[in-house]
Amino acid sequence: MPKRILIQLDCDPQPSTFDAVVAVDAGAEVLLRHGGITPDNVVPLVHGAMFTRGGGDLAATAIFVGGSDVAAAEAVYRRIQQTFFGPVRVGVMLDPAGANTTASAAVLAAARHLPLGDEAAGGRLKALVLGGTGPVGQRVARLLARRHAHVTVASRSEPRAAAVCERIRSQVVDGRLHAVAMPGTAAPTGAFREALEQAELIVAAGAAGVTLLDAAGRSLARAAQVLIDLNAVPPAGIDGVIAVDKAKTDGSLVVYGALGVGGTKMKIHRAAIARLFESNTAALDAEEMLAIGESL
Ligand SMILES: NC(=O)c1ccc[n+]([C@@H]2O[C@H](COP(=O)([O-])OP(=O)(O)OC[C@H]3O[C@@H](n4cnc5c(N)ncnc54)[C@H](OP(=O)(O)O)[C@@H]3O)[C@@H](O)[C@H]2O)c1
Repeated sequence: MPKRILIQLDCDPQPSTFDAVVAVDAGAEVLLRHGGITPDNVVPLVHGAMFTRGGGDLAATAIFVGGSDVAAAEAVYRRIQQTFFGPVRVGVMLDPAGANTTASAAVLAAARHLPLGDEAAGGRLKALVLGGTGPVGQRVARLLARRHAHVTVASRSEPRAAAVCERIRSQVVDGRLHAVAMPGTAAPTGAFREALEQAELIVAAGAAGVTLLDAAGRSLARAAQVLIDLNAVPPAGIDGVIAVDKAKTDGSLVVYGALGVGGTKMKIHRAAIARLFESNTAALDAEEMLAIGESL
């Protein structure tokens, strides 16, 4: 078997060192790192991966697509898939800003306690994603919608949340999603308050260091069974959640903090890289990473 080569294609000017370190830890023997990747300059790099090794040896070459701009990385990922033909292809993984691995780990944590994926019971499950317009929040919302949850996407801007719901509906045909505006620091009112009071699962996926649910807001979450806060930078995204919380019980609640989810995220990331080298056909987006997480 030839050496396992991972071609790290990053849409940022400098390819992520985090992704590079995880790649090596996950078994990549040679790492080729390229920054400033766009759909217009990626094709020759993909040809280099496709036309050098043949047959079964193609599985020893794989591509990782990353960067902080999720839309840009998705466009590169699509262009790579369009460049392949027939059996002349290599495995590809998409994880811009860690969004897919993080969202998969969060949904996996929720599924340990709630009937996600069970259409009969899960169809009634109400989930609220705070900061749902960011890279991680959008993926969390998409994965939950695929698992038959009724997902409310909250943002400071209702139109931004509505645009996210629309995009997910185009990908998850029977997805049940709706958008609400999250009123800054003021006491929750209207549709947001209603969503907060009814949600059985709340995932805070806001920007680092931003509190989205203070103590007063959290006290309104009367139906909540699971709280997940993905923000590791103080103050907490959800009042009272500590970053290291991992399936911590708090009264009738189960609580996860960012580091409590982060361990699983790292396992999924490493396992996904390893999966890339098992065949030349892997195409790993959020859904495939959640499946990898379930198999761990
Ligand atoms: N645990 C892990 O392993 C792990 C891995 C990666 C990321 N993370 C964490 O996951 C979280 C989400 O990451 P991300 O990259 O998706 O975040 P992001 O893009 O920085 O922010 C997500 C959303 O937060 C909202 N927001 C931004 N500033 C805000 C403010 N001042 N007040 C209220 N809302 C604000 C924005 O929504 P609107 O503008 O639409 O309101 C934004 O779309 C972050 O806290 C990140 O650090 C954790």
